[in-house]
Amino acid sequence: MKRPQSSVLLVEDDPDQALIVSGFLSRLGFAVVSASDAEEAIGLLEEDRPELMLSDINLPAMSGIELLSTIRPRYPDLAIVMMTAFSSIDQAVSCIRIGADDYVTKPLHLLDLQGRIERALESRATKTRLQQLESQVRDRHHFDRIIGQSSAMQRVFHIIERAAPSSATVLISGRTGTGKELVARALHYHSRRASKPFVDINCGALPEHLVASELFGHQKGAFTGATEMKKGLLETAEGGTLFLDEVQSLKPDLQTMLLRALQERTIRRVGGRENIEVDVRIVAATNKDITEAVRRGEFREDLYYRLNVVTVYLPELRERKEDIPLLIESFLKELAPDGVACHFSSEALRTMQNYGWPGNVRELRNAVECALTIGRPPTLGIEDLPPHITGLTKVGGAERTGGPRTLDDVERVHILRILEELNQNHTRAAEVLGIDRRTLYRKLDKYKIEYSE
Ligand SMILES: Nc1ncnc2c1ncn2[C@@H]1O[C@H](COP(=O)(O)OP(=O)(O)OP(=O)(O)O)[C@@H](O)[C@H]1O
Ligand SMILES: [Mg+2]
Repeated sequence: MKRPQSSVLLVEDDPDQALIVSGFLSRLGFAVVSASDAEEAIGLLEEDRPELMLSDINLPAMSGIELLSTIRPRYPDLAIVMMTAFSSIDQAVSCIRIGADDYVTKPLHLLDLQGRIERALESRATKTRLQQLESQVRDRHHFDRIIGQSSAMQRVFHIIERAAPSSATVLISGRTGTGKELVARALHYHSRRASKPFVDINCGALPEHLVASELFGHQKGAFTGATEMKKGLLETAEGGTLFLDEVQSLKPDLQTMLLRALQERTIRRVGGRENIEVDVRIVAATNKDITEAVRRGEFREDLYYRLNVVTVYLPELRERKEDIPLLIESFLKELAPDGVACHFSSEALRTMQNYGWPGNVRELRNAVECALTIGRPPTLGIEDLPPHITGLTKVGGAERTGGPRTLDDVERVHILRILEELNQNHTRAAEVLGIDRRTLYRKLDKYKIEYSE
């Protein structure tokens, strides 16, 4: 079906031919502009941005093929149909290869031309749409710097997208290294508060009275050592976001103070009498099961509900293993020296895929950084990973010399693996290795592997 507003650039050096074709296309409802050589065509493409170019191959000076290869990369959305001589199938093939959508042979059959132009417009539109979709799919694998293609992480992205613009309080839960702080920052930077401060406090890192003065500030002389008036973080974060990390470790008195601040949107500095209005969005995080603390009566239920208006749960990395390759790839890109394209051996990748990652994404990031530091890019092997991940513990022997590893090296690593597998049981290890215990000890000494008899 023809779209009435479609515009066509006709490139044809034969004036009679140009007149016939442009007349025909105009009658079909296309807006036609004409050029008689490649140079003029390039100018008109830039000026008029037509949707389709219909160009002859035999043009004076720059040929139609050259024109095609010049403009194709520049205008990926432009539909292109070339007009070739009837006899030259070779030319037609090159045109398609260089990126034309179709070709027509001369002498022109006008009805055939109409069909091909319409199909070219359609197929170009589909290709463009496909490319847009593909790039959208790629974009779905990260949100800012948060990476993940697992359905769990897709859900996290969705929640962030929806919750960020509101001022709703968000409670992020997840074990250590799962990305809680990353999510908290994303919430802030995608909100209307982005230009105001993002302030964070680790509620578990300070003694109770200091947390109070950190959060609410204090008047001069409020307690020993309070020599100056100090604003609290709730005031410092005015207009922005306050990230309460490890919120589950807030002591009961502080929970009460915080609850009051959230309910009344005002605070009182320690030792102060004045109520100060605050406009701060609260994002809290917990790495423990806070509902358990609520059940045990250690965390106020009313505060829990105040904080938990929107919940973001970050699963452990071992529960979303499909994110591991993507994370590795992204950390390699980010951390590789001078942008060298680095990769892991398939053995190393397999090991990382199967490892349990108790430290979650942080541990994975550190492992990649370790491998980049001690390995020799661009290829990183299993021996470059931290030993507790590969099971190659207590490697105190031969240094890495580079190049192919010696037989001794292979023997040392094998012995270490067997010992690890058998929980350092030397008798069993010797049996499995097919040597006696004395020989095993000799080898352990030789390879400087620590052991206790
Ligand atoms: N999905 C992710 N994509 C990319 N990087 C991530 C992701 N999750 C975590 N990281 C990275 O892992 C590290 C730890 O993340 P973060 O500090 O947000 O974890 P956390 O949950 O706050 O941990 P903790 O409970 O120990 O404070 C950071 O370097 C962060 O950039
Ligand atoms: Mg954190």
